[in-house]
Amino acid sequence: MLNFSQPLISEDTIAAMVATMRSGWIASGPRVVEFECLLSATFNHRPTRVLTSATGAMEIALLACGIGAGDEVITSTQSFFSTMNMIVKVGAKPVFVDCDLVTRAIDLQQVEAAITPNTKAIVPTHFPGALGDMDALYALARRHRLRVIEDAALVQGSEWQGRAIGSFGDIATFSFHPNKNMTTIEGGAIVVADEATARLVETLRFHGITRRPDDTRDVSVASGKYNMSDVSAAIGIAQLQQLPAFLAQRRQLADRYFEVFPTIADAVLPPQGVPGQSWNMFCVLLPYQHLHTTRNAFRAALRERGIATGLSYEPSHLTSLGLGLGYHAGQFPNAERIGEQTITLPLHCGMTTADVDRVCAAIADVLAPG
Ligand SMILES: Cc1ncc(COP(=O)(O)O)c(C=O)c1O
Repeated sequence: MLNFSQPLISEDTIAAMVATMRSGWIASGPRVVEFECLLSATFNHRPTRVLTSATGAMEIALLACGIGAGDEVITSTQSFFSTMNMIVKVGAKPVFVDCDLVTRAIDLQQVEAAITPNTKAIVPTHFPGALGDMDALYALARRHRLRVIEDAALVQGSEWQGRAIGSFGDIATFSFHPNKNMTTIEGGAIVVADEATARLVETLRFHGITRRPDDTRDVSVASGKYNMSDVSAAIGIAQLQQLPAFLAQRRQLADRYFEVFPTIADAVLPPQGVPGQSWNMFCVLLPYQHLHTTRNAFRAALRERGIATGLSYEPSHLTSLGLGLGYHAGQFPNAERIGEQTITLPLHCGMTTADVDRVCAAIADVLAPG
């Protein structure tokens, strides 16, 4: 079975993990500090803190921006559910807007139209293959004095005009889940613009604890526990060394998809040829109705041929939670079409271009007339 996503764990990574297990320090400690330092270097030395997930990083980012009850956060309905969930969890209201059909970048015109006196932040989600216009996004945020929290879970290694995502802007969050560009098993990072915010993140990721002058502990804000273990950080340090190779291999696989993907009228492929992009996923929209099939039948036929696929993502506003917030079908046509037609094809560092050829041949075979 060809998985649609899986991590590539080297023997060096396993050895680093085992060495940490034997070191006598397995919870947050020196490996976490080292990992943060190495990661920060990839973000132009901006303050970087690691946590147990990107979901936790989003929650902490919202709290660090002071967002809570009565606040509105404008976000794309095309994202993983964690974006919506964390906005709701901190007590704020997610204000959904649509995205571009091809790049899936948040629609900035709709963002501007959705701003009210209660708006505190914009949370765009970045997708593989192309970013939205980051200059226009930050100009808009500056004009309206809004915070920006970039959900960069899927795009570690992507660049905007030669600058790595995370190395500029306000706040960015990253994921090290096993299906991301590198992994710590579970894990995430938050990159911020200044040391004061980084210190607030440190407090918020560990019970809200601060130190009094006499070195006893104080809690001024109730927070949870999101600190990464040294075992995960050791894996992260080893994976980070391989990240450039991982990104290159993913790019090669994406390039191959563009070369050999069968011609299908009305199919929407990811953006092609944008320089400096990372390729965590390769998602295509297929017009199943015209092809006289359904997505479920199509996925089942691929599964029978040993090919697993994923769905990224169902629109947040059409979840029960989103509907309960007053949203309804028909509001965001691009995200809704993506939700109905998208399929995530296998793309990971355990694959070769021959695997891409096999996937594309299977797609052609499944969709062949008669
Ligand atoms: C766009 C996006 N944001 C956030 C997350 C959450 O990441 P994590 O599993 O590290 O919490 C994901 C996970 O798939 C994601 O795709």
